[in-house]
Amino acid sequence: MGNVLVVGSGGREHALAWRVSQSPRAGAVHVAPGNGGTENRVPIGAGDTAGLAAFARERECLTVVGPEAPLAAGIADEFAAAGLPIVGPTAAAARIESSKSWAKGFMVRHGIPTARHESFDDADGAAAHARALGGPVVVKADGLAAGKGVTVCGGPAEAEAEIGRMMGSGVRRVLLEERLAGAEASFIALCDGDTAVPMAASQDHKRAGDGDTGPNTGGMGAYSPTPFVDGAMARRIQEEVIVPAVEGLRAEGTPFCGFLYAGVMIGEGGRLDVLEFNARMGDPECQAIMARADFDLLAYLEAAAAGTLGEMGPMRWDARHAACVVLASRGYPGRHATGEEITGIGQDSGGSVVFHAGTRREGGRTLTAGGRVLGVTALGDTLAGAVGAAYGRAERISWPSKYCRRDIGHAGIAAS
Ligand code: AMP
Ligand code: GLY
Repeated sequence: MGNVLVVGSGGREHALAWRVSQSPRAGAVHVAPGNGGTENRVPIGAGDTAGLAAFARERECLTVVGPEAPLAAGIADEFAAAGLPIVGPTAAAARIESSKSWAKGFMVRHGIPTARHESFDDADGAAAHARALGGPVVVKADGLAAGKGVTVCGGPAEAEAEIGRMMGSGVRRVLLEERLAGAEASFIALCDGDTAVPMAASQDHKRAGDGDTGPNTGGMGAYSPTPFVDGAMARRIQEEVIVPAVEGLRAEGTPFCGFLYAGVMIGEGGRLDVLEFNARMGDPECQAIMARADFDLLAYLEAAAAGTLGEMGPMRWDARHAACVVLASRGYPGRHATGEEITGIGQDSGGSVVFHAGTRREGGRTLTAGGRVLGVTALGDTLAGAVGAAYGRAERISWPSKYCRRDIGHAGIAAS
């Protein structure tokens, strides 16, 4: 029997814990610190590496890290030094997410396709470059920003204002990037340093508002599979992006163990570019992917930590479609209320499951405790069916400032 410690408190971690608990060999599955929906909560913060290590040692757990911050801070390095098994990259390997400028240089070194870019340590130089480009440009903060450090700008004036805002609020380096057009997809592989086992592709919805408007968020909904990544495109992403990244990281002396996430843009005429790498599972992509996972997740996680993924073969996926609709509190990703009582969550069934994110339990009640509150996830024979089922269940859940996008899956439904 294998005990597991999932580190984090979001919907992603709830979904990982939920699926790993279904493994035939799973022992106790703990989540630290977890949320109002997770069982076996451990009151240790995701930043308390020493506390987590002591817990994992005492309970003989395999540790799986959800969020990026502890990875960038070196949790995997400390666990490895202590001889504790962990699924998650070292701080050096996690630079593929924690430093956008490092990731760009890495992609150029290893021939991984990505948008043209320049990075700047001074606002004036960046603004001058935006003016010289003249057209639309994407401004990105270098460093972890939980998906919120990116602004797609129509022209130089907007870019200049954004550069000023970022550098005025403590960002030391910005990247200016060519704006790409096309369909976005998330492609995540589980890696052990050598071998990368691809997972089912998915699509996220980063903007807060319907029709992809409003500010960038951590993600407002996801679905899997996506018509933008058919079998041929999945093979291309694996061969042109994932394999060169895993081999490049190993060749540079920083092998990657954990979930390697490529956010890709699929453009006209088969153009494929990496928008970003993440050193972890996506949230809410994980919720949709886990709903379709039809394999022993614990066995794969153990193999990733042990370096034996090459013996595992491909993962099996439920042929149905999964959709996850994020229910947030109005105002997210900006100011929003918390502490509101949630009603109507109901019971999970074979066809739908509610993953908690920003929730907490108090005296038998479930209260909101964050911007993204729940991920209502449903399966269906078609994408439209899955989306309809997720919204049907989401309708019955309420709290005063509940908010969600109404168009999750729209691009995929139009394209299928
Ligand atoms: P990132 O965190 O780098 O993935 O950026 C967040 C979001 O900004 C992406 O999911 C895209 O929607 C958008 N974005 C980032 N880079 C570009 C680009 N070069 N062209 C167009 N959109 C982009
Ligand atoms: N959903 C996007 C992310 O996890 O970065």
